[in-house]
Amino acid sequence: MCGIIGIVGINPVTPRLVEGLRRLEYRGYDSSGVATLINGHIDRRRAEGKLTNLEARLGLEPLAGTTGIAHTRWATHGGVSERNAHPIATDRVAVVHNGIIENHRELKAELVAEGRRFDSDTDTEAVAQLLTSFLERQMSPEEAMAATMARLKGAFALVCLFAGRHDLLIGARRNCPLAVGYGEGEMYLGSDALALAPLTRRIAYLEEDDWVVLRHDEARVFNAGKPVTREIKTTALSGAMIGKGNHRHFMLKEMHEHPEAVSATLRSYLDPAARAVSPPSLPFDWKDVPRLTITACGTAYYAAQIGKYWFERLARLPVETDIGSEFRYREAPMPAGGVCMAVSQSGETADTLAALRYARSQGQTILSIVNVKESAMARESDVIVPTHAGPEISVASTKAFTAQLVVLLTLAISAGRARGTLSAAREAELVDALIELPSRLAEVLGSHEAIVAIANKVAEARDVLYLGRGTSYPIALEGALKLKELSYIHAEGYPAGELKHGPIALIAEDVPVVFVAPTDELADKIASAFEQVHARGGKPILFSDAAGIARLGSKAFASLCLPDVDPMVAPILYAVPVQMLAYYAALAKGTDIDQPRNLAKSVVVE
Ligand code: AGP
Repeated sequence: MCGIIGIVGINPVTPRLVEGLRRLEYRGYDSSGVATLINGHIDRRRAEGKLTNLEARLGLEPLAGTTGIAHTRWATHGGVSERNAHPIATDRVAVVHNGIIENHRELKAELVAEGRRFDSDTDTEAVAQLLTSFLERQMSPEEAMAATMARLKGAFALVCLFAGRHDLLIGARRNCPLAVGYGEGEMYLGSDALALAPLTRRIAYLEEDDWVVLRHDEARVFNAGKPVTREIKTTALSGAMIGKGNHRHFMLKEMHEHPEAVSATLRSYLDPAARAVSPPSLPFDWKDVPRLTITACGTAYYAAQIGKYWFERLARLPVETDIGSEFRYREAPMPAGGVCMAVSQSGETADTLAALRYARSQGQTILSIVNVKESAMARESDVIVPTHAGPEISVASTKAFTAQLVVLLTLAISAGRARGTLSAAREAELVDALIELPSRLAEVLGSHEAIVAIANKVAEARDVLYLGRGTSYPIALEGALKLKELSYIHAEGYPAGELKHGPIALIAEDVPVVFVAPTDELADKIASAFEQVHARGGKPILFSDAAGIARLGSKAFASLCLPDVDPMVAPILYAVPVQMLAYYAALAKGTDIDQPRNLAKSVVVE
């Protein structure tokens, strides 16, 4: 959940370290800091809050040096403060850390008993103090790092700077990503390729329990005490900073990229001329698969839930879905020949990654749907079926979600064809509906004024309910999640059929109830839930099509008419108004939309 970067350089590093932090801020923004060597001594600048605070501090007190490390923090252990901001340092070593040192209390007790004085409340300081303890026993930095790693439990990506050694950085990783960047006479370490892109596109990803000794012109990687080689790849990421264009927020820009994200993804998986899907080559045949498991977190999990409906309906394939944080510990029995699919925008979400690793341990074939092809999940999968949504910076996942749904639907269609459960005629109809989708998405994006009017009413509420049935139920969940994470209003997504089993007690005139209700085979059922809310003086807000508005619109507190689409692709379309509703409600409330409180874009810790 934090971003780290380091440079063994020949030119001043502070401006480039700060540029790297700006590209890593999506991983956390509670505090940030930089450390370099000045005449061999460690010097630091740190600041609580957004990166702009650190930049202001550096403007007042510039930091020279040609070797340094930097960090942007999402607090796990130790509150949000300057004293807990990384780099965490002693007089011998400075450390930046992403992850959680699970045995930090035990290590701290041991080190305090040894007479060491801790300055922060962070788990990371145990690493800095342990390294210092080993250095004071005349170990070299390399020996001290090896000895320290042997004592650490938990997850970490570390970059360490040593007093008196401007020619050296040492990095290490366990369960958190860390990449080596190869420059000309300079070398780099960073959380991901995005952070290193302005410096180099030659990247090698460290693997589990690797540690690396970085000098100006080489990277020596070790694992279990032996030298190892990690492949250097050239990333496709551009060094240009991804901007917001003329949009007020990254989220708004990325919502307006729904049509392009969907069409760019469709271009990889459709054969429009044949009115058929053109699936990626897979290391298995869908007709031999006994069960599919789909695991993900947050918004990506809602995509997984919709995928379940599609695979079961179109391919008659049994599907289990579970959130990563539950699946990784359930010890679920998994059938021989089964396939496990991980869905993730970042490809770095710790819970989803751990769930994927469990599935591999159960002999499943691993397929990942990721938006970042250089991610840990991509590297640990047997096959990846990437979304082509482009970099998604805003913490709220938007265009990646619709792109994930497109991949899931095209895979479900190809599975139906392979299993003989989907006719060519129905496949052609679905492909036509998919081809039409970017235009329909653009139409919905054009109805922002109607959504703003609804959002201004929702923004006044304390609690909001979202209801849907079938594939609209996960969209109700997505709408509730977006409202919560962006506007901080409590919201709950619920299957409409469950309303009468309890939540109907919540219905009151100050509780807006958003109905995600395309006209499909369950239209009568959702209509009865709508009538139940209306009859009890609730505030039903209706997202539907012309037929649904004609049927129920007169009783709605507010309504939004969406274009008619094939019910099978409706959830992809209806994702957009629920995301826009949350965006404009947050705008009305004045929250920090691209970096909501307590959140980060990529959750790489448990
Ligand atoms: C979505 O708006 C949230 N930011 C969050 O739920 C997110 O979807 C979740 O953390 C999963 O992230 P991933 O897709 O990168 O795995």
